[in-house]
Amino acid sequence: MKVGVLASGSGTNLQALIHAASRGELGPARIVVVGANVPGCGALERAAQAGIPTFVRSHKDFATREDFDRALLDELRRHGVGLVVLAGFMRILTPTLLDVFPHRVVNIHPALLPAFPGVHAQKQAFDYGVRFSGCTVHFVDAGTDTGPIIAHAVVPVLDGDDEEALRLRILAEEHRLYPAVIRAIAEGRVSVNGRRVHVRGTPAELRDSRMRSL
Ligand code: GRF
Repeated sequence: MKVGVLASGSGTNLQALIHAASRGELGPARIVVVGANVPGCGALERAAQAGIPTFVRSHKDFATREDFDRALLDELRRHGVGLVVLAGFMRILTPTLLDVFPHRVVNIHPALLPAFPGVHAQKQAFDYGVRFSGCTVHFVDAGTDTGPIIAHAVVPVLDGDDEEALRLRILAEEHRLYPAVIRAIAEGRVSVNGRRVHVRGTPAELRDSRMRSL
């Protein structure tokens, strides 16, 4: 399965996927292209380092979200992408792109959805005073972080934490959870029934964790 990754930032999740692929841990998933809307962002550098083709389309160059999505779509199609992986991609996608990839666009969010959607999720959770937070991998729909949930990983909020400590604890889980989900999708082990998502054959080391749903 050909994967296209879209990113806007430093790209540590992309890096985790690249590492997983190099260790044979992404199953049949292969990252064939990385696209970004921010020229020079870290994700583009990481892709180039790994020898993965890249493209840049700045949303600022397009009059509407739909025009921007059509430009992304052209590139993804050109590379034969079958699964679109958002890894810190800070734009809302429209049905112009989403309808072409039904249940084939995924995102990772640094909070336990449906709590704390949108930007600065770790700060939202920290300021709220939750004792547990984590990350969510979900299918993308036209809302903001509202699509069907595939997997969660939970982390505690410890006494003495600040927002940065929580962000890093969540990020470490993101780097474990995202490759496992991409592999499961690529291996055809993920099915969707309305809002409920079922993942078959979760690897034992992940299944044993009571704090991780995958
Ligand atoms: C991560 O926290 C992810 O959950 C969110 O954006 C951030 C991307 O970080 N969607 P990175 O660019 O992968 O380091």
